[in-house]
Amino acid sequence: LDAVDPPADLPDPDVAENALTVLERRYLIRNEAGELVETPRQLFWRVARTVARAELKFNALAEEALEVARDYYTLMSQRMFLPNSPCLSNAGRGSGMLSACFVLPVTDSVDGIYDAVKATALIQKAGGGTGFSFSSIRAAGERVDSSGGSGAGPLTFMEVFSKASDSIQQGAFRKGANMGILRIDHPDVGDFIVVKDDRTKLTNFNISVAITDAFIEALERDPSAIHEVKDPHTGVWRPLQKRGQAGAFWTVGELWTEIIEHAHATGEPGLVFIDRINAQNPIKNVGAIEATNPCGEQPLHAWDSCNLGSINLGRFVIPGEGAAGTATPQFHWDAYREVIHTCTRFLDDVIEVNEYPLREIAEMSRMTRRIGLGVMGFADALFELGIPYDSAEALSFAEEVMRVLDEESHLASEVLAEERGVFAAWEGSEWEKRGVRLRNSYTTTIAPTGTISIIAGCSGGIEPMFSLAFERQVMRDTDGTPTVMREVNEVFERVATASGYFSEELIEKILEEGTLAHIDDVPEAHRELFVTAHDIAPESHVKMQAAFQRHCDAAISKTINFPNDASIDDVRQIYDLAIDLDLKGVTVYRDGCREMQPMALKG
Ligand code: CDP
Repeated sequence: LDAVDPPADLPDPDVAENALTVLERRYLIRNEAGELVETPRQLFWRVARTVARAELKFNALAEEALEVARDYYTLMSQRMFLPNSPCLSNAGRGSGMLSACFVLPVTDSVDGIYDAVKATALIQKAGGGTGFSFSSIRAAGERVDSSGGSGAGPLTFMEVFSKASDSIQQGAFRKGANMGILRIDHPDVGDFIVVKDDRTKLTNFNISVAITDAFIEALERDPSAIHEVKDPHTGVWRPLQKRGQAGAFWTVGELWTEIIEHAHATGEPGLVFIDRINAQNPIKNVGAIEATNPCGEQPLHAWDSCNLGSINLGRFVIPGEGAAGTATPQFHWDAYREVIHTCTRFLDDVIEVNEYPLREIAEMSRMTRRIGLGVMGFADALFELGIPYDSAEALSFAEEVMRVLDEESHLASEVLAEERGVFAAWEGSEWEKRGVRLRNSYTTTIAPTGTISIIAGCSGGIEPMFSLAFERQVMRDTDGTPTVMREVNEVFERVATASGYFSEELIEKILEEGTLAHIDDVPEAHRELFVTAHDIAPESHVKMQAAFQRHCDAAISKTINFPNDASIDDVRQIYDLAIDLDLKGVTVYRDGCREMQPMALKG
C-alpha cells in the first residue's frame, strides 16, 4: 500500500481527453515548479491505497487491504465509480480532507459567527462546500443588549461569509461554494428573497428559503392571511411588514408569489422543505436539521460532513446489437448490486482515513458516519437502453435504480456494522427502533457530479443531457482565460453514424439549436429518444426528481429546467407539484435568466 504505482497487472485508466485536461488542471500532483509529477494511474492508486488503509484498522491483513485497494482502483480507473473531488484531490496528501459537504452552525453571537467563518476558511481551503442556516441570528434592527446598539441581521453576516470565501481562493483547488438558508418565518425573509437581485452580491452563495409545513398549510388554507414571523432572539411573533411601507403587511400568498417571481427571474431562491427533511430524518436523536450543503443533496446537522461517491450507470448497460432502439440492451443489475457493496465500503473507509479540519467536525462525522452514495450517467444509460428521459419507462427505471441502491447500500452498511460496529448515534435513532443495525446513519444521495462526471466521461448525476453537443467552459487559467472543450454525446454519435446521418453540419446545427426537435434529417424515433434538457417539460424533471427521492436517505441535487419563455405561473405549478410529490427541496432555472452559465450553447 506504500507503492506509488499500482501492481503492474492492473489496467490503465480509461480516461478521455477532456477528463485528462481536468485531471491535469486540478487533481494530479505537481512539484514546486508546477510540473506534473503524477499520472492518472498513480492518482487512482493513491486514492485507492489511501482509502483501503482503513481496512488495517479493523485487523485486516496487509494482503487483504491490498486486495481491497485493487478493487477500489479498478472501479475508479474503469469509470464505474468516483468519489467526490476532495477525495481525488486530497487523499494521501495535503490536508487529507476527503469530504465535499459540510454544514456549520451560525449562532446569534459574534463569537459563534466568527468561529463559523474560521471553520469555513479551513473547509474551503481544502475544496469542501459549506452550508449555513442564518435563522438563529436576530433580525436586523433588533436590540443587542450588550452594546445597546441594534443587530446587523442575517444578511450582513452572509456578506461576511461571502467575503471570507472570496479571500481563501489561494491554494484551494476550486472556488468556495456556500449555501445560505433562512426560514420563511424569520423577520428578515423579505430582504433575503430579493438579496440576489443585485448580481454582484453573494456570488459564491446559493440561497434557499426553508419552507415549513405551517407555511404550506397556511397557503392551502387562506393565502390572504397575514404572514407571521418570529424573532429568534425575543421569540415574539408579529406580522411581517413590507419594507418601506408603514402599515402594509405581507400575506402568505403574496410572499409565496414573491419567492416564485424571483426564482423565475434569477433561479433563486430555491426551496428547502425543512419539516419534511426532519420528519424523515432517521437520527432525530442528534437534533434538528436546519441547512443543507451548497448543492442541496445533503441536509446536515450542524458540524456534520458527508463524503460522496457516484456510480456511473452507463457502464452497467450491456449494449444490444446495432443502433439504439433496434436491439435490446440490458441493464446489468447483478453487477450493479455487487458494485454498490464495494462503494459503500469505500465511503465508510473514507471516514476512517479522513482528516477533518476541526475537532467538532471530526466528532460529529464519526457519530453519524454519513456517507452519500449516488449515481451519475443516468441520461447515458437511458440513451443506451433506448428509453426517452421523459417517459413512464424512464421513471420506473429511475425508481428501481434508486430502490436497489438504497437496499444494497443498507445491506452493505449492515455487514459493516457486524464487522466494525454501528454508528455512535445508532442508539435512540429510528434505525434502532426498526431493529436495523447500520454502520452509517445515511447512505444514499444524488450529487450533481459536476466535475467527476467529466472525469468519468458521463452525463452529470441524474440530469438529462444538456445538449447532444456543446462547448464547455472550464476552469479559468490564472490569467483569466477559459478553456473551451467541445463535446459530442458518444451514444448519439455512434447511433447517428450507424444510421448514416452523422455529419459536421449536423453538430454545428445542434450547437446552434441545442435540440434535434427541428432537424428533419433525423428519424423521428431518434428525436424522441435523444431528448435533452431543452426538450423536457418541467413536470417531467420534477417527476424524475421524485422518482429518485422515493428511495433516498438524503436528498437529490436536480435542476428543474424551464424554457426562456416560461411564465411565472409555470414556475408556481412546478412548486405546487414539488410539494405534492414530497420532494425535500426544489431548484428551478429558466434558460438564459443568468448571464453566466457553466455550459452554454454557441452564440
Ligand atoms: O463532481 P464533484 O465531486 O467535484 O462535485 P459535485 O458532485 O458537483 O458537488 C458535490 C458537492 O461538492 C456540492 O454539493 C458541494 O458541497 C461541493 N462543491 C463545492 O464545494 N464547490 C464546488 N465548486 C462544487 C461542489
